[in-house]
Amino acid sequence: MPENRENWGTKIGLILDMAGNAIGLGNFWRFPYQVAKNGGGAFMLPYFAALLLLGIPLIYVEWMQGRYGGKYGHGTIGCMTYLQAKEKLGHSSAAIIGALIGMLVFSVTVLVNAYYTQITGWTLGYSYLSLTGGYMGTARSTAEVFGSYIQNPSLSITFWVITLALLAFALSRGVQKGIEAWAKVMMPLLYVFGFILIIRTLTLGSPVNPDWSPIKGLDYIWSPKWSELNWQSALAAAGQIFFTLSLGMGIIQNYASYLKPDEDIVLSATTTVFLNEFAEVILGGTIAIPIAYTFLGPEGVASGVGLSFIALPNVFRMMTGGQFFGALWFLVLFVAGFTSAIAMYNYLITILQEDLNVPRKIGAVVVFGFYILVGLPSALEPILTRTSELIFLTELDNWVGNYFLVIVGLIEAVVVGWLFGEKKAKEEINRGSYWKVPSGFFNVMVKFITPLSIAVLLIFSTKSYIDDG
Ligand code: PHE
Repeated sequence: MPENRENWGTKIGLILDMAGNAIGLGNFWRFPYQVAKNGGGAFMLPYFAALLLLGIPLIYVEWMQGRYGGKYGHGTIGCMTYLQAKEKLGHSSAAIIGALIGMLVFSVTVLVNAYYTQITGWTLGYSYLSLTGGYMGTARSTAEVFGSYIQNPSLSITFWVITLALLAFALSRGVQKGIEAWAKVMMPLLYVFGFILIIRTLTLGSPVNPDWSPIKGLDYIWSPKWSELNWQSALAAAGQIFFTLSLGMGIIQNYASYLKPDEDIVLSATTTVFLNEFAEVILGGTIAIPIAYTFLGPEGVASGVGLSFIALPNVFRMMTGGQFFGALWFLVLFVAGFTSAIAMYNYLITILQEDLNVPRKIGAVVVFGFYILVGLPSALEPILTRTSELIFLTELDNWVGNYFLVIVGLIEAVVVGWLFGEKKAKEEINRGSYWKVPSGFFNVMVKFITPLSIAVLLIFSTKSYIDDG
């Protein structure tokens, strides 16, 4: 048992940390526009199917991999993969697979953070603008306000750097005093703010068209347009499950490496999935879309990436108490983004700590500098091109969400199902668990159903993408 490796302090802390890791911009910024873009209710069917067939099995797999690695003092997915593949493949082949998956996941983390911390910075900036009335009472459209925000470095870069500095500070304090302390304050606040916003949303009436009501907005998500269900929207739904549960990034494994060796996996993991889905489908789904629908109608809902930053500010302008509710909305986004960014940041610090022996405090500063570098292209794109098209950011988000995370998930299922082996995996996962998973979970689900579903999705959606030109 390695010395000096921290553990989570309390059970409630562990659950809130994992929930903070999962609940992120994915729930409040990405989910609503993905639903709107992919046919409303027609998206929800593949979404829930992906939750059951891919999300839940892989969450158990990732928690198990993490706790297993932590036992040997390893917090990165590359080392865990090596440990799990070693027996079947021998040292050198396992080392190659471990290194490859380590590098793949490292690249994915870098790509995500090339835009994720940027958007988290916008949410902080927009909380400030909402509170101070920055986009209220001006003749400019909210699209113009957003454009000038991202093109103005004294706003966009400043709030981004403040966000990164806060992250560096939180992470420098370690697992219990840093990550856990922040999650214990931030996560309950997120739910309280979310509930206030839901109540406000459901009691809104449309000032524009009596036909537009929040309930109609809900109907938009929950009534399927079957004609819009296809392979690409199914892949988008699966990708959203990966994104929102933080799967395929090595960050669940990283957090799970701080579990005590006998800490319950199945019940704790299921609880965090539930907390995340509640925050996504109920909070994320019941706020943004119904608000946008009530004030802007069906077209306002379908506004893509700009739903949170362009459509909703337009509503906050019209709404009584809009300054306050706007600030609340962007704070929810900020808290969500921040606690997920903490998880990704910690993953990079772990690599420095465990592979290169860099102390945590120095690691926190190194990652800060690294984030500035990798985030610069998406920060500079609007400033240099003087447009708000955000082509680079949108492309990154599509690739990460639709392909990379899902591919890592496929590899994980193969490593655990086929190399680590059913018997050991089952024993590992069930040790200390209040609910036990049955044999079929590994024999059928992790070995066959999960990887095959991912493979089918990837093949058919790529084919239909190519066929569509
Ligand atoms: N799950 C988090 C979110 O929904 C963080 C995350 C983003 C994890 C992207 C992986 C990939 O925002």
